[in-house]
Amino acid sequence: MSTLVTGIGLLVTNDPDQWGHESPLPDADTRSADRLGQIRDAAVVLDGDRISWIGRATAAPAADDAVDLGGAAVIPGFVDSHTHPVFAGERSDEFDARLTGQRYDGGGIRRTMAATRAGSDDHLGAMVDGLLAEMTRQGTTCVEGKTGYGLDLATETRSARVLAGRVDEVTFLGAHVVPPEYAARPDDYVDLVRGPMLEAVREDVSWIDVFCEQGAFDTDQTLAILAAGRDAGLGLRLHAAQLHPTSVIAPAVEMGVAAIDHCTFLSDADVEAIAGSSTVATLLPAAEFSTLQPYPDASRLLAAGATVALATDCNPGTAFTSSMPFCLAIAVREMGMTPAQALWSATAGGAAALRRDDVGVVRVGARADLLALAAPSWLHLFYRPGVPLVSHVWHRGVHHDLSVPSLTF
Ligand code: NIG
Ligand code: FE
Repeated sequence: MSTLVTGIGLLVTNDPDQWGHESPLPDADTRSADRLGQIRDAAVVLDGDRISWIGRATAAPAADDAVDLGGAAVIPGFVDSHTHPVFAGERSDEFDARLTGQRYDGGGIRRTMAATRAGSDDHLGAMVDGLLAEMTRQGTTCVEGKTGYGLDLATETRSARVLAGRVDEVTFLGAHVVPPEYAARPDDYVDLVRGPMLEAVREDVSWIDVFCEQGAFDTDQTLAILAAGRDAGLGLRLHAAQLHPTSVIAPAVEMGVAAIDHCTFLSDADVEAIAGSSTVATLLPAAEFSTLQPYPDASRLLAAGATVALATDCNPGTAFTSSMPFCLAIAVREMGMTPAQALWSATAGGAAALRRDDVGVVRVGARADLLALAAPSWLHLFYRPGVPLVSHVWHRGVHHDLSVPSLTF
């Protein structure tokens, strides 16, 4: 079954080699939009779960079905490369306390752990499904999800099983914090994570992650856990420099981690190490919004030549949002990104962080993951913050018509 999506006023492909670049506005500065590979008056043909044709609407082939978007902007679906969606309970009281001066130190993770251990598989699955439904409505079409609120063998294994088949990429985060029963012997917990726990989750996960931070895991523990994951054939990811400077960045880059996430407290040497590598710096502004920490400096990383991704960090403690548009808005207002850089980072950047070339791009053969906006330009994502502009989502070729009316300009 093929579908012709036509009447696209402006299409972002993230494929500039193929499509060059056009300014979204006649007098706009085009330089920062170079990587977006935009096409005016475009059409796309979807065949099953893949994209089969892209070009000018006037040259479009026939298809079994057609949707005319009447001049709307279309972009690749958002790739949310960092989420923690498998948990039970909520912690709005901690957010309230932070607004009156309480500092975030990661301690609340153990509250969510207790609720998650007590949650049935059905309860945990319903939470993931609920968050994924929210994400789809806000334009996210590819999701990475982490375990990390079980922190014992049984609940980490259940969490990985609940995520498998629901999210696109499953990450083992047994090393989120040391659970209370191991408080007096943290190295025994490290041994549990890199031994029996890793073996138990292995068939359901493709990535391993560690929260390297004061109060969580130190650099040596982090590198030991990542090495065990690498030896088990997993890809490597890392939470680092969220709350304090760290010595883990250079050795982690050296080990080939796909992404270092948070990246708020980076030294010049850290920035240089990331920029000179294929490791992606994933920035999570919703976490800083909720923890009242300083935002990471995206412009510094970009100026050094680093690849930057944006993701939600969706979790009940530090970033209880499923909204990529919310993160995009903060990125341009507080982190020194241009709108074009932020859009690229939330789509192609997320794909790079997951080492995937089939998402975050509108290209023949890529997954049929597209969004239509109730707007003539993707700039409205930033220009009209907080407005639900995602009017159609094609996710693996399945059409969700969200019936969002467009204003007439
Ligand atoms: O990415 N930093 C560690 N993990 C989460 C927060 C988890 C929590 O507080 O529940 C994060 O921000
Ligand atoms: Fe996180």
